[in-house]
Amino acid sequence: MLTGTQKSEISFNLEVAAPGRINLIGEHTDYNDGFVLPAAIDKCIVMKLRINGTKSRCTIKSKGFDSILVADLYNLKPGTEGWHNYVLGVLNELQLATQSLKGFDCEMETNVPVGSGVSSSAALECGLAFGLNELFDLGLDKWQLAKLGQRAEHSFVGTKCGIMDQFASIFGKKNHSMLLDCQSLDFEYIPTNISPYVILMLNTNVIHNLSTSGYNIRREESASGLKIVSGRFGVANSFRNITQNMVNQCREELGDILFRRCSYVLEENQRVLEAAKALKNNDLVRLGELLYESHEGQRVKYEVSCPELDFLVKFSKDESGILGSRMMGGGFGGCTLNIIHKDAVSSYVERASRAYEKTFKIKLSYFITVPSEGTSIVT
Ligand code: GLA
Repeated sequence: MLTGTQKSEISFNLEVAAPGRINLIGEHTDYNDGFVLPAAIDKCIVMKLRINGTKSRCTIKSKGFDSILVADLYNLKPGTEGWHNYVLGVLNELQLATQSLKGFDCEMETNVPVGSGVSSSAALECGLAFGLNELFDLGLDKWQLAKLGQRAEHSFVGTKCGIMDQFASIFGKKNHSMLLDCQSLDFEYIPTNISPYVILMLNTNVIHNLSTSGYNIRREESASGLKIVSGRFGVANSFRNITQNMVNQCREELGDILFRRCSYVLEENQRVLEAAKALKNNDLVRLGELLYESHEGQRVKYEVSCPELDFLVKFSKDESGILGSRMMGGGFGGCTLNIIHKDAVSSYVERASRAYEKTFKIKLSYFITVPSEGTSIVT
């Protein structure tokens, strides 16, 4: 008779690791034809895959969620459980693109914090797409895989996300961040060694239920604002063709909210370009200032922050070892990204945790991260 351990010993043909991501700066600019400065991180989802010999039966076992998803390639539609839709969406997109999938088994394990704004979802999408591309020799290139992950999220999950997360998870490079032009999709690797400073992520451990609806609403608002300004000046409908001066001239027509959304996008794009320059010149002080400005823009003009994030950013301002801090990712919860001197980390985390818990009755968690390699085959 087989023992419990022996029973689960399946031999897999392929192991893939797909990382989450951070974004140094450039939030809500990706779907607005703007610039972003993300990096893959040293936290990954690891997937083991094998062809199981069936025509269409796929089993995906998640160790973290302690559950198994069984999917039929001939009958792919959105499910009810959160993580299932990322998987089902990717399978659906791969089938639409290639019609070449067959039954497979997958086991996955992750140490990317879920719901924390570091893109555990993109890691899941990209790892699966990348792995199945290898397993079935589908011939898709990295950009096709990243875009496919994004489409999966649009159609099966319902978040109308931009391309940043999937891009970063797929294209990440050790010790580098990436300046991506989300209009042309040209990008540049920027060496990112900030020693003696480190990147500290503080996780609020809150995710407000606005996160999906609020995100999509922001996307609609910025598109509406852009349409008004580009229409008035007869230029092509892209944030790259409008200026703050044009936005100012449309202030009345835009109304207060759309005016602030458009201004934020234009300002954040400038900050990204300046931050990339600062990073290249090793001007970490300027980089830190830009982080604070980005947070302020997101808090006041784009309105994607929340009291927990604002608290942590404000708290960081009294700390001499911290150069900059801001909310990161889609917003309404998740993590702040902090550039902090390595010697200041432990005492700062202790004080911030105490103050945060006292105010919100929620435990803070944290991790230090470094720019890391993108999605790749382990064996
Ligand atoms: C989420 C989305 C990204 C991007 C960020 C905000 O992470 O998936 O495409 O829009 O929010 O910058």
